[in-house]
Amino acid sequence: MTPFTSHARTTVIFEPGGLGRTGEIARSLNFTRTLLVSDQGMIDAGYVDRALRSLDSAGIQTLTWHDFAENPDSDSLEKGRVHAAPFSADSIVALGGGSSMDAAKGVNFLLTNGGRIHDYWGYGKAARPLLPMLAIPTTTGTGSEAQSYAVISDAATHRKMACGTPTAAVRIALLDPELAASQPRRVLAASGYDAISHAVETFVTTRRTAFSDCYAREAWRLLDENFERALASPGNVEIAGRMQIASYLAGLAIEHSMLGAAHACANPLTQFHGATHGHALAMVVPHVVRFNNSAANGRYAELHPELPLRLEELRAAAQLPRTLADAGVTTGDLTRLSEAAAEQWTGQFNPRRFDAQAAQEIYLCAL
Ligand SMILES: [Fe+2]
Repeated sequence: MTPFTSHARTTVIFEPGGLGRTGEIARSLNFTRTLLVSDQGMIDAGYVDRALRSLDSAGIQTLTWHDFAENPDSDSLEKGRVHAAPFSADSIVALGGGSSMDAAKGVNFLLTNGGRIHDYWGYGKAARPLLPMLAIPTTTGTGSEAQSYAVISDAATHRKMACGTPTAAVRIALLDPELAASQPRRVLAASGYDAISHAVETFVTTRRTAFSDCYAREAWRLLDENFERALASPGNVEIAGRMQIASYLAGLAIEHSMLGAAHACANPLTQFHGATHGHALAMVVPHVVRFNNSAANGRYAELHPELPLRLEELRAAAQLPRTLADAGVTTGDLTRLSEAAAEQWTGQFNPRRFDAQAAQEIYLCAL
């Protein structure tokens, strides 16, 4: 039995069309000067304008920041800090997928505590509380809206840094299934597989608890039932809502139990080969489950009697890359990848001992 403390730091509002109430909800948190963090895609889709209109009608002044890419890095955060500091925001609204939420949290560290984002790599290194945040996720994968971590890439090495502190958890997560229903299919495919990976990994980590088990099990159940349906039914708000809840629950599971070898193997594929996070996971997760099976005490079978095969089926339904060769990886790359995987902090929570040799074994199966 694993002792644990569970904090409910985030209020969840699940509401179709909730984006139109952004201002009212922000006002309920006493926001008056808000930095709206949202990527270019959200501007192009018209969501930023809708949020700005709502914030404006609630009497909230705003400054927007969108100058960051997928997997926001330390350099873009510094630019964000320079852009936002003169505005003296008292709050932040993050609208978008994982990149927008990570960028919002990352710039929040710098605005409130100074220094570089590297100073906050790890947990609890921010001396001052972060600005209160409202998150409005538009994808169904990252679960960042349920977590007190920002994941930021080092601009020089592209290594991912997880920076956490209790006040990096958002005050309100506004889950509007109409937004989730409008995500492009390729985004749904990659983000949905990320959520699937979160549910599967958190269910077996060494840090798992009675609470994380509940979140992971229910997240898996919803994803197993709805991922293929969502892919086949673009625009279906009901199904998108189930995916959104699943993604949030899987994010909560991470907050309580961390991740494992799949994310440790996936991150170097992004770092060195530019693989999208969900694509990198699709290539390795079934093999990680086979690798871990002997140490998982039959827990994978609780999720599905043939879990690796089911994961491959879901991957095929999403038309995600199957092998490392699909991402341009060759045998000559495996040593560098394996060494980088062994340095990822999530590997330490894997149920079976995970080191460079283990990573190489998994990569070879995925090649
Ligand atoms: Fe992930």
